[in-house]
Amino acid sequence: MSSIFKKALVALTGLLLIGFLVTHLAGNLYLFGGAKHFDRYAETLEKMGPLLIAAEVGLAAVFLVHVGLAIRLTFENKAARGGTGYEVHENQSAAPSRFMIVSGILIAIFIVLHIRAFKFGPREEYGGSLYAVVMNAFAHPGVAAFYMLSMLILGSHLTHGFWSVFQTFGLVKPAKRDKVRKVCALLGWGLALGFLTLPLFGLLKQDKTEKGLEGAVKKLTGQAEGATGGLASADRDAR
Ligand code: HEM
Repeated sequence: MSSIFKKALVALTGLLLIGFLVTHLAGNLYLFGGAKHFDRYAETLEKMGPLLIAAEVGLAAVFLVHVGLAIRLTFENKAARGGTGYEVHENQSAAPSRFMIVSGILIAIFIVLHIRAFKFGPREEYGGSLYAVVMNAFAHPGVAAFYMLSMLILGSHLTHGFWSVFQTFGLVKPAKRDKVRKVCALLGWGLALGFLTLPLFGLLKQDKTEKGLEGAVKKLTGQAEGATGGLASADRDAR
């Protein structure tokens, strides 16, 4: 496979992943509408059954091709430069691709932790509500901060990624370079900051749900204590 073809495939799979991100963000915005809307959205997705599984397998395949080829290209470029001579030139051209590989690996780590926390999260502990799983996670400052930081890394990866797509397919006229770069930044940061609003919302709203039996007991104990306190003060007032 020629390196031009590999580059084109990285760009194409990157665009497909961005397509997923746009639909994922659009769906996740239901979080602002509360449990009823978000859980209904999750249910609609799940009702798709085999179609959803096919989409997930396709997404995983696209993701693996994107990551696999990007890593291979990085190593091949490094080997082609040979590491001898042309110090300045090597550093200049290697910097963006080194940045993309590092931010890409960090995003991959984020995705693994994210799927584990949400897709395979403790949903039954929250009465089956995906909204409760997400909002309880984001209510935790550490989790929200991890998400927001990951979204900043995603923003710079997407901005560089968009720019690479234009370059790979030779779509930029020299006179339009600055303008195109600005559009890439707008798209990349727009998408990432859209996602960033969600953990921020969860952190500020603190819409926590107590877990399962333990939560129910805590809630009842709290109510009982409140009622006893109320009775005691009513008794005191009456006397
Ligand atoms: C920051 C806000 C985000 C929220 C609130 C969020 C929420 C969710 C939820 C609730 C699920 C589980 C869906 C289900 O089980 O039906 C999920 C799955 C997933 N998310 Fe996110 N997500 C966010 C950002 C991202 C980002 C930035 C990426 C990629 C870089 C991403 C990639 C994925 C993937 C690949 C899945 C698995 C999809 C599937 O198998 O159906 N998410 N997300």
